[in-house]
Amino acid sequence: TGSITVNDLADRMATPQTEIIKSLFFKGIATNVNQTLDLPTAKMVAEEFGIEVETTEEESEARKVTEMLDEADLENLHQRPPVVTIMGHVDHGKTSLLDYIRQAKVAQGEAGGITQHIGAYHVDLEQESGSRQIVFLDTPGHEAFTAMRARGARVTDIAILVVAADDGVRPQTIEAISHAKAAGVPIVVAINKIDKETAQPDRVKQELMEHNLVPEEWGGDTIMVPVSAITGESVDTLLEMLLLVSEVEDLHANPDRLARGTVIEAHLDKARGPVATLLVQNGTLNVGDAIVAGAVFGKVRAMIDDRGDRVESTLPSFAVEVLGLNDVPPAGEEFEVYADEKEARAAADARAVEQRQSRLQQAMASRRVTLNSLS
Ligand code: GTP
Ligand code: MG
Repeated sequence: TGSITVNDLADRMATPQTEIIKSLFFKGIATNVNQTLDLPTAKMVAEEFGIEVETTEEESEARKVTEMLDEADLENLHQRPPVVTIMGHVDHGKTSLLDYIRQAKVAQGEAGGITQHIGAYHVDLEQESGSRQIVFLDTPGHEAFTAMRARGARVTDIAILVVAADDGVRPQTIEAISHAKAAGVPIVVAINKIDKETAQPDRVKQELMEHNLVPEEWGGDTIMVPVSAITGESVDTLLEMLLLVSEVEDLHANPDRLARGTVIEAHLDKARGPVATLLVQNGTLNVGDAIVAGAVFGKVRAMIDDRGDRVESTLPSFAVEVLGLNDVPPAGEEFEVYADEKEARAAADARAVEQRQSRLQQAMASRRVTLNSLS
C-alpha cells in the first residue's frame, strides 16, 4: 500500500535526485525520476543513504499508543492544546517561570478569584488565528515521563528545558535531556535569568550543542528562547514557540467519545473523600460518567477545573479535579470511562483480583529465593 515518486523521495530525503537514480539504476529498479517506488523500496533506498523512515502507517500506529487513540478516533480528530512540563537543574528557575506564566496569564482571566492548586493549569493566548490554550503540568517533568513509560503512553507533548544563563548545563540538565529524548518528547529550551549581568546565553547554546541540541539560528532544529522569569522578558515569545511546536506535532484527539487519560495526582480529603486530578487525553469527561482507574472506580460526582470553578465537562488536554471515586488511585494510573456503572465496577474488580494475584506471586517468588538461599 502506498507509493512515492523518485522525485518526491529525493525531496523528502533532501538528497540530489541523481544520487538516488544512480543507486536505483544499478539495482535495475528505476531509470527516471518520475517512476514510482513502492514503500518498502523507498524505505530501503532511504536507509541506504542513512535516513530513518517511518511510514504514515507506522506513524499512526505509534500515535495511537502515545495519544490513546483507537482506530475509530482517526476518523474524527480535532486539534487539542499541548500539554507542557518544565524540566531543568535545581535553582535554574522552573518554579519562577511557571509562576510568572501563571500570574501573567491565569490571573488575567480570573477576575480576582483564587486559583485552585490542582497540579495543572492552562493559559489562554490570543493569537491572530483565534484563542489558543496551553496546559502546563505542575509535576516535575521526569515524573510525568516515567509514570507512564511502561505502557508507552505519555502525558507530556512538549518539554521546556530551563537552563540558567549564569550557570549553564548541569547534571540535571543532561538528565532532563535524556528523559525527554527517551520519551520522544520535543524540547524547547528556555535560557533563563538573562536579566543577570553574569548571563552568557551563547555559552549555554554551545554547551547544549555538546548534547545534540543545536539552536535554530545555528542551523539546528531546537528552539531556544532567552528569557527572564523575574522581569518576564520574552516569556511571550516562549509561549508562542510552544504553540508553534504544538502545530508541528499535530496534536489531536477525538472529543466525541468516552474519556481516557491519566491520574496526575490523588489524595484523600477529609471532607470530600478521594480527590483525583485527571488529565483527559482523549474523549470528553462528563459529570455522571462511570470511571475506572486500575482497581479504583466510581461515578464522577463533581469536577473542578484549574480556576476553581465547577464544570460539567472536560475536553482533551485539560486537567480537572474529580470527586466520586471509591478510593485513591495511584498517580500515573490510566483511567477510562465505561458506558455504565455496572461495567465499570466489574472492570475495577477484575483489576483488583489481578493486582492481588501478582502481589501474591511476587511474595511467593521472594519466598522461593529465601528457601533457595537457605538450602
Ligand atoms: P528547584 O525547584 O529547587 O529545582 O528550583 P527551580 O528551578 O524551581 O528554581 P526557582 O524558580 O526556585 O529559582 C531559584 C532562584 O533563582 C530563586 O531565587 C529565583 O528568584 C531565582 N530566579 C529564577 N529565575 C530568575 C531570573 O530569570 N532572573 C533572576 N535574576 N533570578 C531568577
Ligand atoms: Mg522549583
